[in-house]
Amino acid sequence: MRISIIGSGYVGLVSGAGLSEVGHHIVCMDIDQARIDNLRKGIVPIFEPGLEDMLHENMRQGRLEFTSSMADALDGARVLIIAVGTPPDEDGSADLSHVLAVARSIGELIEKPLVVVVKSTVPVGTCEKVAEGIARELERRGLDINFTVASNPEFLKEGAAISDFMKPDRIIVGVENEEAEVLLRELYAPFNRNHEKLLCMDVRSSELTKYAANTMLATKISLMNELSNVAERVGADIEHVRNGIGSDPRIGYSFIYPGAGYGGSCFPKDVRALERTASQHGYQAELLKAVEAVNNRQKHKPFELLERHFEGHLHGRQVAIWGLSFKPNTNDMREAPSLVLIRALIEAGASVRAHDPEAAQEAASLLQGHEDFEVFDDPYQAAAGADALVLMTEWKLYWAPDFDLLYESMKNAVIIDGRNIWSPKIVRRRGISYYAIGRP
Ligand SMILES: NC(=O)c1ccc[n+]([C@@H]2O[C@H](COP(=O)([O-])OP(=O)(O)OC[C@H]3O[C@@H](n4cnc5c(N)ncnc54)[C@H](O)[C@@H]3O)[C@@H](O)[C@H]2O)c1
Repeated sequence: MRISIIGSGYVGLVSGAGLSEVGHHIVCMDIDQARIDNLRKGIVPIFEPGLEDMLHENMRQGRLEFTSSMADALDGARVLIIAVGTPPDEDGSADLSHVLAVARSIGELIEKPLVVVVKSTVPVGTCEKVAEGIARELERRGLDINFTVASNPEFLKEGAAISDFMKPDRIIVGVENEEAEVLLRELYAPFNRNHEKLLCMDVRSSELTKYAANTMLATKISLMNELSNVAERVGADIEHVRNGIGSDPRIGYSFIYPGAGYGGSCFPKDVRALERTASQHGYQAELLKAVEAVNNRQKHKPFELLERHFEGHLHGRQVAIWGLSFKPNTNDMREAPSLVLIRALIEAGASVRAHDPEAAQEAASLLQGHEDFEVFDDPYQAAAGADALVLMTEWKLYWAPDFDLLYESMKNAVIIDGRNIWSPKIVRRRGISYYAIGRP
């Protein structure tokens, strides 16, 4: 099947790689000409394990092409997938300008019947707006071309995106008619072999399902962070509590890790956007507001622990940070909790020596102009001479560090474990002052 994907970011590229891998012919389109030029040369703009190899192989086999022309993308496509960004608007609602711009160009250029699939995360009612946008342009052109708009939210996790796409837990499709359902079933048949994973529903429910999933996960994290703050005050250890509740199968162990807050391009914006949608429909979603507020507060936790240890005297201190990306296995810095810490430290007059295996460059460009922020290729170099070390992202390479070396090479042996990955006993045995989240 010939499919075009509009937007060649995380979702567009992973979808393009995955769909071409199973034999579909894919054209990935983006308005960013430099991005397209690089992709044509095989230069992939994001770090995602397995993505580069898969893109190269499918390009080599002629099933994957890149273009910056919408007319080329529409030429011969049976299905057009919209995977452009939906960043937060000033009031927190989803900015639909990119999605609606795509709808407009479809209407301006479409020549043959088409199924338009909205994969971007969009508020309920957006697929209807996309259909209206296309219809308006067709009317202006005096044409009557059959098209349908379906919803197909994406559930990939950055860092494990390829396996999530190739072996999805579920494929959600929201359709208005049987024709779209049949086509989407055909499109996803190679991913639906083992057992039925495709859940077909109405468009609005499909749009809401994506927000429901992300807000449920964000709520779990904020609840654990809330509990960790209670644990800290009552002298309990949140890690014992976590194990204690995770053993209940109704609760489970996944996604109940306390830490320095969630970041990334999805949870923060999707929680806010759903809260805005609710409010626009006359409903105050108090729980969603609390989830966001708890997370915003939690992002300041590592800084507060540092302030407490140094009794407010952070001016002139050097603080090492291990891990900058919002989570391991990605170089995505969007809304990363590390940025909150770095900015607070610089504001307080401290300097930052950071290490991250993949996101250092991205972080350096975001923090351009801050002389007090420096990145190092080696984690121990970053820590050498520092007054404190803060673990912000739990990349595997940080799980079993040489604590003796850290003790010897740091100016002050102080460690803040923002993800609770180390054992307080093991670290403190070395004479290191150790602080974690919600642990004595
Ligand atoms: N990143 C994730 O983990 C993830 C997971 C699930 C869903 N989503 C959702 O998928 C959507 C895309 O997210 P992303 O992380 O891939 O975004 P991204 O920012 O990485 O990529 C978006 C791309 O769209 C391009 N673009 C913008 N306007 C365009 C236009 N008019 N025509 C063509 N290209 C255009 C941009 O240049 C950019 O390359 C968002 O709605 C997001 O919420 C993201």
